[in-house]
Amino acid sequence: MQQQIDKYTQEINNFVKATADELEAFRIKFLGTKGIVKDLFEQFKTVGAEEKRTFGKVLNQFKQLAEAKYNELKEGAGTAAESGKTEADLTLPGDGFALGSRHPLSLVRNEIIDIFKRLGFVVAEGPEIEDDWHNFSALNFPEEHPARDMQDTFFIKKNHGQDDIALRTHTSSVQVRMMENGKPPFRAIMPGRVYRNEAISARAHCFFHQVEGLYVDENVSFADLKQTLFHFVQELYGEGTKVRFRPSYFPFTEPSAEMDISCTICKGDGCNMCKYSGWVEILGCGMVDPNVLENCGINSKKYTGFAFGMGIERITNLKYVIRDLRLFSENDVRFLKQFKTEII
Ligand code: DAH
Repeated sequence: MQQQIDKYTQEINNFVKATADELEAFRIKFLGTKGIVKDLFEQFKTVGAEEKRTFGKVLNQFKQLAEAKYNELKEGAGTAAESGKTEADLTLPGDGFALGSRHPLSLVRNEIIDIFKRLGFVVAEGPEIEDDWHNFSALNFPEEHPARDMQDTFFIKKNHGQDDIALRTHTSSVQVRMMENGKPPFRAIMPGRVYRNEAISARAHCFFHQVEGLYVDENVSFADLKQTLFHFVQELYGEGTKVRFRPSYFPFTEPSAEMDISCTICKGDGCNMCKYSGWVEILGCGMVDPNVLENCGINSKKYTGFAFGMGIERITNLKYVIRDLRLFSENDVRFLKQFKTEII
């Protein structure tokens, strides 16, 4: 019996690499119901008490060796071994790789851009580090306006006046740059990142994204503003979405309004997204204040215009029912991969 065990031990030790078929044959030979281990245990029953003591241990070790070898080779066996083919077989299918997906804010920004492009708007951009003139003064903010306060604005250089340098607090600054550097008519949308000194929570963040819109030409009226934004909402949220305008105040528009849409979640019935009012605010808008036109060198007797500004996060939250702003900047792939992948 000892001789048999020695011989098989050697055989097991020599058995190093195997295809799936060879490994299965190994299992049947040593560990199967009619295999060698079973057989040796059968023989063991018939040996005398004296031998039992010696062989009991040896036999158990042998069984463990056979099992360990089998498990080791099984773990190491890849696809090539399973199919009985070698790794060099070029007909085997390749390994797949995961495609990334677009960030939800990019998806929505692109959708907004597409809608306005079809109306003849061009896309413009401006710097994120702005001076006081473009972010505030040219936009008709009075000197003592609270939005200039340290609490809202991240100042980079504070010189108390028009030399202040700050992270832009809104994309309206791009309107100014556009009008200063060109001649009417203007028809543009201006997407970009903006910064405000706010405590981070589910509902507020120190940076977020906006899309600014500007339309300046002769005879532009509030009716044009309403129709443009009404069309935009139908395209973005679907036909039948209602809009309403509420009077509001912005230093750079006169008259000014905020626009609400019928809640996209409950369709106006009332839910916690719209605080049971059936309406949600999505943007601010108005007729460009003549002071702003003049500040940018545009004749306000000849030209009029409308402007609007919306937060991309807000529009995205309503579209995808996202309730925590922090999700947008945490880079958690479990969140990000839920959004449709565009193949370009
Ligand atoms: N700049 C405003 C904000 O950040 C949004 C805004 C309101 C932009 C009215 C406009 C406008 O162009 O006309 O809250």
